[in-house]
Amino acid sequence: MAINKAKIITITSVKGGTGKTTTVLNLAGTFSTLDKRTLIIDLDLYSGSIAASLNINDDNNVYRLVNDISNNVFDYMENYVTAYNDKIDVIAAPKDPRMANKISSKYLSIILTRASMRYDVILIDTNHVIDEINLTVMDLSDEIVYIINNDPMDLKNMKTMISIYKDMDKENYKIILNESADRLRDYFTKYDIKNIIKDNIDYTIPASFYIKTIDKYVLDGQILTLNKNIIATHKNAMKNFKMIASSLLKEKDK
Ligand SMILES: Nc1ncnc2c1ncn2[C@@H]1O[C@H](COP(=O)(O)OP(=O)(O)O)[C@@H](O)[C@H]1O
Ligand SMILES: [Mg+2]
Repeated sequence: MAINKAKIITITSVKGGTGKTTTVLNLAGTFSTLDKRTLIIDLDLYSGSIAASLNINDDNNVYRLVNDISNNVFDYMENYVTAYNDKIDVIAAPKDPRMANKISSKYLSIILTRASMRYDVILIDTNHVIDEINLTVMDLSDEIVYIINNDPMDLKNMKTMISIYKDMDKENYKIILNESADRLRDYFTKYDIKNIIKDNIDYTIPASFYIKTIDKYVLDGQILTLNKNIIATHKNAMKNFKMIASSLLKEKDK
């Protein structure tokens, strides 16, 4: 029997607030409808919001996991995750941000190796800071997905990041232009953007996916891509998420 190996996908950005966490949740919803066992790991260690967005308990968090590994009392991965539904499990960010700087990047590889055996997809939420944790997790990922907004500073920073990837000969990154979180901005056309960042936008989350009442869904712990009303009223965006999810799965491991 072949050993299962999850696709590890890290969602990141070059500035804060671009829609990473919302996209992680929406992609998790989409992967679950594609029948993929999905683990979300919240590595936005200082201000994680996955558990709160899903209304789940954060007892199973990255700090508890790392602490048990370092004390040699870690047993089975299933004892360190919280189920959201029958396909989506979560490892929350630490309850207390003061625990965040006690988390050493050296444990990430063992966590991902163990989790890989139990899931089809591991989705990692991050913050936009380039620190040891984020660099390590990006290195361990099959795909790195940048969520960018249509705004000049974000595009300029993305351009710099792309040139770093090109220098390093790393090609396992994708760019999602998220027009739903700041739909009032449309400074640049796709053509302009391509010229600014000197690369292609791989996918777009359209402005039509702006959900005015998004906070209500967050308070209810709901994932937008699993909500009947949203599915019925945002067919195009749903198609987009399916396309993004299935093409991320198809990318070859590098
Ligand atoms: N499709 C959307 N419609 C309306 N608001 C959105 C949408 N996606 C994201 N937002 C809002 O944009 C803000 C930033 O999103 P978030 O996912 O938390 O970004 P990040 O994780 O990058 O900080 C949040 O207030 C969120 O509610
Ligand atoms: Mg976030």
